[in-house]
Amino acid sequence: MPVPDLAIVVPTLNEAQNLPELMRRLDAALVGTAWEVVFVDDDSRDGTADVARRLSATDARVRCLQRIGRRGLSTACIEGAMATAAPLIAVMDADLQHDETLLPQMVAALHAEPALDLAIASRYVAGGGTGGWAARRVAMSGFATRLARLVTAAEIADPMSGFFVIRRPAFDAAVRRLSGQGFKILLDLLASSPRPLRLREFAYTFRPRLHGDSKLDTMVAWDYLMLIADKLVGRVLPARFLLFLLIGGVGVGVNLLVLRLSLRAMAFTAAEWVATLAAIGCNFALNNVLTYRDRRLRGFRAARGLLLFTAGCSVGAVANVGIASALVRTEAWWLAGLAGAVLGAVWNYAIAGTYVWRSR
Ligand code: GDD
Ligand code: MN
Repeated sequence: MPVPDLAIVVPTLNEAQNLPELMRRLDAALVGTAWEVVFVDDDSRDGTADVARRLSATDARVRCLQRIGRRGLSTACIEGAMATAAPLIAVMDADLQHDETLLPQMVAALHAEPALDLAIASRYVAGGGTGGWAARRVAMSGFATRLARLVTAAEIADPMSGFFVIRRPAFDAAVRRLSGQGFKILLDLLASSPRPLRLREFAYTFRPRLHGDSKLDTMVAWDYLMLIADKLVGRVLPARFLLFLLIGGVGVGVNLLVLRLSLRAMAFTAAEWVATLAAIGCNFALNNVLTYRDRRLRGFRAARGLLLFTAGCSVGAVANVGIASALVRTEAWWLAGLAGAVLGAVWNYAIAGTYVWRSR
């Protein structure tokens, strides 16, 4: 069987009820096209991956990539695209909100115009729409679209679209520079491509969801800001590291505050212990929900992570004091202190990424 012309990468999180209908609709929409679908499931609790495998038992066009202990819409799309050899890669939601009848037009445009890299289903060109969105979501989307201009010069009405078809070489040229942060894989591609992508938009109306719930909670706004930050400064320092430093700064504040309060009740050494542990606990919690949101630890894993983080930070503190004490003999006190702090921060960040919130 030759490689299909089109691979549709579909990220899924608890979409079991939607897959059979999605397959029926793709089948109807794509007559005459050789296609396959790659479901990339983040270990959904409703058995989405099992449903996908059951569908593939009678239909070899269906493939399933089940990721364990991972989360993230963008990384799911990236890994799905890397798992196929098709020359055209579509990205589409599983929940039937994207209009699959647009796919043949987008594919035809890419076939007709060899110079075109990207066909995008757009809600914000004439004829498109957001369906029954509340005014607040429309306003939020408009604001996010303006923010996108900070990281891409592309002439595009809907850089937030999650429904598009890209040519394989264009994807491959950008893939090593992608942030993979959050859920805006199209914007990530536009901002990461080494050359401006030639694109065309196709109007469609975003449909209401029939089954299941949207996964996009208030934290996606945060994820989005992290993507913008990473695209702006990520070449110099990863946005994740900057955030880690910022939270480290918050930790210093917590340390001083708790020290001050504890001193009323106990001796200095005891108070310093309480303050240090409070700061470490606070930093662990903040990093767990913000910096490493995509690898968030829960329950038993969170308790183990906190112990590892505390152990790692203690070594970092020893290294910090060690280098500062050694340097203070030859350098100014503040330079010695700064060198110690930088060393401690880099150490803690390395421990955090490799041991505490390791990506499996
Ligand atoms: N693998 C994986 N991992 N899939 C995910 C995750 C995740 O962490 N989060 C969400 N998904 C899947 C959902 O199962 C669904 O198929 C798709 O990604 C979109 O998630 P929704 O929760 O339905 O998002 P939405 O409807 O609010 O927004 C979508 O449509 C917008 C308009 O096109 C998103 O795709 C946006 O990126 C897009 O702009
Ligand atoms: Mn949706």
